[in-house]
Amino acid sequence: VVQGAMAKLVPLAPDSWIPGGVPDPLIARKHGLIGSPVSRRDGPLKVQGQARFAAEVVLEGMVYAALAYATIPRGRIATLDTDAAEAAPGVVAVMTWRNCPRMNPPAVFGSSPTAAGPSDLPILQDDRIHWNGQPIAVVLAETQEQADHARSLIVATYQADPSTTSLAAAKAHGAVPGLFMGTALLNEKGDAEATLVAAPHRVDHLYRTPRHNHNAIEPHGATILWDGDDLVIHDMSQMVTATAATLAGVFDLEPAQVRIMSPYVGGGFGGKGLWDHQILGAAAAKMIGRPVRIALSREGVFRLVGGRTLTEQRVAIGATADGHFTAIVHSGIAAMSAHNNMPEPFILATQSAYAADSFKLSVDTVAMNMLANTFMRAPGEAVGTFALESAIDELATELGIDPIELRLRNEPDKDPVSGLPFSSRHIDEAWRAGAEAFGWSARNPVPGARREGEWFVGLGCATGTYPYHRMPGAAARITLTRDGRAIVEVAAHEMGMGTSTTTAMVAAERLGLPIEQVEVRYGDSIIPGAILAGGSQQTAAIGAAVIAAHHALVGELLKLAGNDSALAGLSVADVGTEDGALCKLDEPSRRESYTSILARAQRDTIVVTEQASQPLEIQHWSMHSHSAIFVEVAVSSVTAETRVRRVLGSFDCGRIMNPKTARSQFRGGIIMGLGMALMEETQFDERNGRIMNPSLAEYHVPVQMDVPEIDVIWTDIADPHTPMGAHGVGEIGITGVAAAVANAIYNATGKRIRDLPVRLDTLL
Ligand code: MOS
Repeated sequence: VVQGAMAKLVPLAPDSWIPGGVPDPLIARKHGLIGSPVSRRDGPLKVQGQARFAAEVVLEGMVYAALAYATIPRGRIATLDTDAAEAAPGVVAVMTWRNCPRMNPPAVFGSSPTAAGPSDLPILQDDRIHWNGQPIAVVLAETQEQADHARSLIVATYQADPSTTSLAAAKAHGAVPGLFMGTALLNEKGDAEATLVAAPHRVDHLYRTPRHNHNAIEPHGATILWDGDDLVIHDMSQMVTATAATLAGVFDLEPAQVRIMSPYVGGGFGGKGLWDHQILGAAAAKMIGRPVRIALSREGVFRLVGGRTLTEQRVAIGATADGHFTAIVHSGIAAMSAHNNMPEPFILATQSAYAADSFKLSVDTVAMNMLANTFMRAPGEAVGTFALESAIDELATELGIDPIELRLRNEPDKDPVSGLPFSSRHIDEAWRAGAEAFGWSARNPVPGARREGEWFVGLGCATGTYPYHRMPGAAARITLTRDGRAIVEVAAHEMGMGTSTTTAMVAAERLGLPIEQVEVRYGDSIIPGAILAGGSQQTAAIGAAVIAAHHALVGELLKLAGNDSALAGLSVADVGTEDGALCKLDEPSRRESYTSILARAQRDTIVVTEQASQPLEIQHWSMHSHSAIFVEVAVSSVTAETRVRRVLGSFDCGRIMNPKTARSQFRGGIIMGLGMALMEETQFDERNGRIMNPSLAEYHVPVQMDVPEIDVIWTDIADPHTPMGAHGVGEIGITGVAAAVANAIYNATGKRIRDLPVRLDTLL
């Protein structure tokens, strides 16, 4: 346990994100809670099995659901025989399109700030099939085993319509410009194609990345209850507020009539949003008038929950002999279903990674009959940097320049595409520190030159970037009690990354209270505001909301303190917080404690709710997390197996709030990147659109023996333009890792692999 409130006066935070604004004073505070390795509050509960997850909630009279899935990619259900299922032991009802309550389609993500639907397809409202794996029936029974058994008795026949299930066919139908959250995925500066042709040196290659499915350790599930006309869902969510709002639209309710509670989430990564199972579970509970638990099997997650879609990316870079980039072309296609909104935006990182005289960046989409894809850890950046950072390595080889040196020679002094200044960019520091710690200077640039027995050994590196986000709509409610405790409520999410802990640290530091006296409540849509656990923005959004609520709280406390207080006549700007008291900044002996103020006013509590200020910083600066990733691989000359021996991630992500949880985020991201490089691939049957490997037996992710020592270091240079000086750390970890692995494999073997995952057969 780390003690907070070290008797050091903390002034209130001004709006550091306005140009000319004063940086958050907590940035300057070197030995407080922020920056301390505080252990996760949820850790002991999870280890002891006391944390109750959504599919563990038991409700009176609850039934269990099992889903049947379509086996064609497009068409109609011709016959659907549920008689045997309905007659099976324990079955309460079978819900199909024929008896499902009428519902509106969910609002698709991006169509409004509160929309959470992965697609806007109607769910179980007609006999139409839109993807292979779409739910066609929900069996409800007294036990999960009875539901699963009855589900196996359902027999469906189909009338197939023409469908598009191969990438070649989709491309033949034509590509259209991609839109990401309403923004065109197109950026041009100068004439990049002409500059490329004229460049003294160039690389120009095609890179392919496959589909990936979400495989959080906790498969999706929900326990659902109708309380009169109000809908209550025990969910696992990274977006409780948007899920409630979208479900209200589906069931014609007021948003306040839907409550989503999500105290624990066993991994999210972009996949824990609103999918068909919550909607079907709510419809089923309404239909039978009993609570429903709908817990997807691992196969169910593959059928219902979209992931990363496939991409084909061209990266071409033109350069002078001394390595100056004259042109960067990054363009290509991503596959999408017709009803969703998530083209893999692989050009985003390229927009601000390197200086170049000209750019041509675009993502087009092609339509396929498949499950709607969605966000998956660093959507766009994870696969985009594989292509870009592989191409940089190829160019370095062509020019005979060290790949780190080539990157540093093209380090931009402002955002090369938007023209905005960088708020905080110290990637050169990250490279230098990383190269030293990893021992990069020992690398032999000649491929295949280092051999240890049967193993070829190589070193590779890559840059990662991920944008800083802070979404509007965040709010915080702070309740101060007469016995000197604070309750901080944010509509945020704990997916295991340490949100509740970091929120307590931030609030305790601002309030000048020991962290033990700060309780954090979160993961409930009845809490005001909306804080998405996505885009690596949750900590910044919470930080800004706590700043705003703290201001309001101090204002209320000063009013309450009144003329009899030592604080009489002071305004919010005159005071700071310390040791559970408000103090005059330049005269700290003029003070009154929170408990004294409340006691004198005969109040048990004081409660304030405040919205975070608008995220103006992103309009004024180009803001990103950065990384330099180093990998050592050994490739067997006998089996072509690649073993990753060492990884070092050197990060520049602003002030690190909590080194313990941040290190874990970085490591987790890197491990996911190793999977992306060497294992993960959704096998999609192009004859019929069926996912062929819907289990962790066949869809491979790294296990303990695949994960080597991972060193993590960081610059810890605060960004003066963000709350607390922090940038996001959730998604940057995966970014750049696949390229660093592929580049190391090239150094080891001389084989350049441009299709992920890198498999034995492509290396033999
Ligand atoms: Mo992330 S893909 O924004 O959960």
